[in-house]
Amino acid sequence: MVREFVFNLKKKNEIFNGESHWKAPSNIALIKYWGKKSNQIPINPSLSFALKNCYTQTKVSFVQSDNSNLDFDFFFEGNRKKSFENKLKKYFKNIIIYCSYLSKFKLKIESSNSFPHSSGIASSASSYCALSLCIMDIEKKIDPSIDNQRFLRKASFLARLGSGSACRSTKGSYSMWGKSNVFPMASNLFSIEYPEKVNEIFNTLCDTILIVDKQKKKFSSTDGHMLMQNHPFSIARISQAKDNLLLIKNALELGDLKLFIKVVESEALSLHSMMMTSDPQFILMKPNTLKIIDEIWEYRKKTKSNVCFTLDAGANVHLIYPQEEFDSIQKFINLKLLIFCESGKFINDKIGIGPLKL
Ligand code: DP6
Repeated sequence: MVREFVFNLKKKNEIFNGESHWKAPSNIALIKYWGKKSNQIPINPSLSFALKNCYTQTKVSFVQSDNSNLDFDFFFEGNRKKSFENKLKKYFKNIIIYCSYLSKFKLKIESSNSFPHSSGIASSASSYCALSLCIMDIEKKIDPSIDNQRFLRKASFLARLGSGSACRSTKGSYSMWGKSNVFPMASNLFSIEYPEKVNEIFNTLCDTILIVDKQKKKFSSTDGHMLMQNHPFSIARISQAKDNLLLIKNALELGDLKLFIKVVESEALSLHSMMMTSDPQFILMKPNTLKIIDEIWEYRKKTKSNVCFTLDAGANVHLIYPQEEFDSIQKFINLKLLIFCESGKFINDKIGIGPLKL
């Protein structure tokens, strides 16, 4: 138990009902979180940026109930979603020691995503982040003395207990999570806004998500993380992530796009190498993922482009590039990459500024 985040029952306002509503972004990791210990503690630090157009909106309505157990119904895009309620039960079980006031309420949770459900884009980061921010809103109604820093820290802490990467969506554009010697403020328990200088070019990044496979993946990230515990390369991976974090810090500060590309692609391919060398091993890339990577490398060789790719735990490819290349990259996608996308689908997104209270 982390005492710091346990709700202080002494500071109580009696609240009977109300609602709260937040919009929270998905994020894309540049330095990948891969591997965790118990209680959602990452084995290495990670860094990501928030997206602008891929987000979840969640409304939580609450009424006091006589029942002394937390009770809730979950609706996704207007329909009751019982399959997700089991996951949420686990989440609430994890957070109830930190949010004991929840056991007095009956909640109605209504959630929707800005991106299509069947696009292969993971929604757990934005969903758990939006829900955790709504929960913190309830907490603040009960204890109005909570300041902004504690509000966001605890929201990140709670989101982490739902899904690790969700904790990086609670604040700002660039976020970090996980202890690091280079960033003494960073924590394993919640994310912090990236504290160092970022050259202007990196505040204009675009992320075009090429949908290679719309299917739900056969191997979950959670299972993949667990396999890092006895992984033959886990020590080397942890040290690589730390080295890459230092390199990307320099790239971000100096506006060094070449170094940025090198680190971002190294992280994407290392992530998938870890999957391929786990026991049991698994492969989430598809033949079209590799074809796209090949085309990107070819395109970079032929042009002066600063486009690069990253991957999350799936087959889809994220094309990352500065805004000034938007038009040329759209042409490149249409000419060379569209044929590798399932149903010709891709989503244009860009760096965002974090969550918003609605
Ligand atoms: C490859 O956050 O989805 O996207 O903590 O088990 O919910 P859980 O895993 P999750 O893992 C995301 C892994 C990743 C890399 C990253 O986002 O850093």
